[in-house]
Amino acid sequence: MMARRCSVKVVAAAVAVLATLALGGLVSAQGKWEAPPDVKKLKNPLPKSDKVLAQAKKIFETNCVACHGPKGLGDGPAAAALPVKPANWTSPATQSEADGELFWKITNGRGPMPPWKHLSENDRWTMVHFIRTLKK
Ligand code: HEC
Repeated sequence: MMARRCSVKVVAAAVAVLATLALGGLVSAQGKWEAPPDVKKLKNPLPKSDKVLAQAKKIFETNCVACHGPKGLGDGPAAAALPVKPANWTSPATQSEADGELFWKITNGRGPMPPWKHLSENDRWTMVHFIRTLKK
C-alpha cells in the first residue's frame, strides 16, 4: 500500500516536471529569436548593385510585403491577424544582426514567419541587401 501511494506521488511529480518543461518550451519559443552563432560568419556572396536591389524589390513585393509592410515596418495588412508581430526591418534589433543571421532567419522562418528555402540562395541574399537599404 505504502509503495503504491509512493509511486503515485512520483508519477504526479514527473507529470508536473514535464508540464513545466513543455510550458517553458512554449514560452521561450515566443522569446527573442536567436540564430545559431556559427551563421554570423556567413558573408553575402552577392555584390550590392542596382540589379540586385531591383530583383529584391520584386521578391519583396511578391512574398514579404503582406506581413512586413510597404516600408518594412512590420505593419503589412496581414500583420494584424498574426499572434507574433512581423519584425520591423528598420529597427536597431534587426539592423544590428549580422548578414548571416538575417539570411538564416529568412531561410528557416519561425512561427508565422515562413521558411523561404524554396527561394534560391541568391534570392535570399538579395533580400539581405534590401533589408540593409532600410537602415535609418
Ligand atoms: C506571413 C507573414 C510573413 C511573411 C509573408 C514574411 N514574414 Fe518575415 N517575419 C514574420 C514574423 C511574424 C516575424 C517575427 C518572427 C519571430 O520573431 O518569431 C518575421 C521575422 C523576419 C525576420 C527576422 C528579423 C529579426 O530581426 O529577427 C526577417 C529577416 C524576415 N522576417 C524576412 C522576411 C522576408 C525576406 C520575407 C519575404 C521573402 C518575409 N520575411 C515574409 C512574418 C512574415
